[in-house]
Amino acid sequence: MNRTNNTDLVFTTNHLPPSNDKWLPIMSEENVRKALAFHRSFPQYEVTPLHRLRRMADYLGIKSLYVKDESYRFGLNAFKVLGGSYAIARYIAQETGMDVSDLPYEVLSSEEMREKAGQTTFYTATDGNHGRGVAWAANKLGQKAVVRMPRGSSEIRRANIEKLGAEVTIEKVNYDDCVRMAAAEAAADPHGVIIQDTAWRGYTDIPSWIMQGYGTLAIEADRQLLADGCEGPTHVFVQAGVGSLAGAVVGYFANKYKGSEPVMCVCEAVSADCLTRSALRGDGRTVKVTGKLDTIMAGLACGEPNTIGWDILRNHAAGFAGCPDWMSAKGTRMYGVPLNGDPTIISGESGSVPMGFLASICCYKDDKYAEIREALRLDENSRVLLISTEGNTDPTRFREVVWDGLYGIRHRGESGIK
Ligand SMILES: Cc1ncc(COP(=O)(O)O)c(C=O)c1O
Repeated sequence: MNRTNNTDLVFTTNHLPPSNDKWLPIMSEENVRKALAFHRSFPQYEVTPLHRLRRMADYLGIKSLYVKDESYRFGLNAFKVLGGSYAIARYIAQETGMDVSDLPYEVLSSEEMREKAGQTTFYTATDGNHGRGVAWAANKLGQKAVVRMPRGSSEIRRANIEKLGAEVTIEKVNYDDCVRMAAAEAAADPHGVIIQDTAWRGYTDIPSWIMQGYGTLAIEADRQLLADGCEGPTHVFVQAGVGSLAGAVVGYFANKYKGSEPVMCVCEAVSADCLTRSALRGDGRTVKVTGKLDTIMAGLACGEPNTIGWDILRNHAAGFAGCPDWMSAKGTRMYGVPLNGDPTIISGESGSVPMGFLASICCYKDDKYAEIREALRLDENSRVLLISTEGNTDPTRFREVVWDGLYGIRHRGESGIK
C-alpha cells in the first residue's frame, strides 16, 4: 500500500478479533524488572525525568498530563539504547550459557568475559536512534557494530553513530529494505548477528529482548507516577514505527493493570501507518506500507509491523492514529514553548507526535476531532501518560520547526504547510 497524503489524521478504534495473546507475557512485570536491573548496572544509568505539565493539563481539559523524557537516556538523546543493550546482553548470556542477571555491566564489559564470549559483529538497520544504541552498547562491551541507514537519513545522525566506532553507511533504499540488507550481511558473516528492533517469522528472540529492554522506561514511568501520588494512568499514547516500543509499553501496562487497563492509543506517521492500516483492515492480518515513507518523523518511517508488537497491540490498544507531520511539529513546539510554570521539553519529530495528537483531539479549531476524543473516553478525569522518545537528534530540523515554524498549521485550509 502506498500513501502520499500527509495532511490529515487517519484514526480508528480497535475492532480487531483478539488473538490468543501468546506474546503478552514477554512484557510481564517480572521480565521487565530483569531488564531494569541490567540497565541499572550501567555507570551511566539514571532514571529519566517524568515531567508533570499542570498548566497544559488544565488547558487541554484533562486531569493530569505526564511526559516521560527520554532525551536524558544514557546521554544518547533517545530511548532506543535500552533495547539494543539488553538484547546484546541476552545474546551473550545465551551464547555463554549464563543468566542475564549474572551479567551486569561490570562483568559483561570485563576482559575475561570478552575472551569467554569471543568477538561478535552486531549488524543492524536504523533511522538513527536504534543504530546509535547498538553501536554504543557494542563499543562499551568491546564488540563490533555495522549499521545500515535508509535513504534520506540525516548526516548528523550518521556521524553520531560513526563516532561510537561502528561501520555505518546511508543506503539508497528505505528502512525495511535496509533491514533485509543488514540481516543478509549478518547471515554471511560467521561472527555476525543481526540485532534488529523488529520481528518477523522465525526471528523473535532478539526483538522480544529488545522490547523487554524498552520496558525499563515503562516500569520507571509507572513507579514515578505512583510516587507522585497518581494512581496510574487512565490513558497512554505511544508512538510507533514498527511497533516494538508501542507493543512493549502497551504490553507492560496491560500486564500490570490487568482488568483495569488504561486506554492506550498508538500514534504513527500517516505516511508510514502500517499499524493503523492493519487495524483498519480488521481481520488481524498486517498491512505493509511501501514506497518512500516520506515523513519528518524519521524514527516512525517504517512500513512493516513487528509481528510480536502487532499481536500485543491488536489485543490491547484501544485506538490507532496515523498522524500528519504538522501534528509532530505542533507537539515539538508545545513541548518547547510550554505554558508558564510548566517545564520545557526538548522533543524531536518522532518524540513529540503523541503530544500533537493529544492537543489536536482536545482543542483543534471547531473541535474537529471531538469524536476521537470521545471514542478514547478522554475527559476532565483523565490522567494521561506520554513518552517523548527523543530529544533534538536532528538539531537543524528541530530549529527549523521551533524557530522557523516549519510544518505549521494553516487553520483555514486545515493542512500542514512546509
Ligand atoms: C525516537 C523514536 N521514537 C519512536 C520510535 C518507534 O519505535 P518502534 O519502531 O519500535 O515502533 C523510534 C524508532 O526508531 C524512534 O527512533
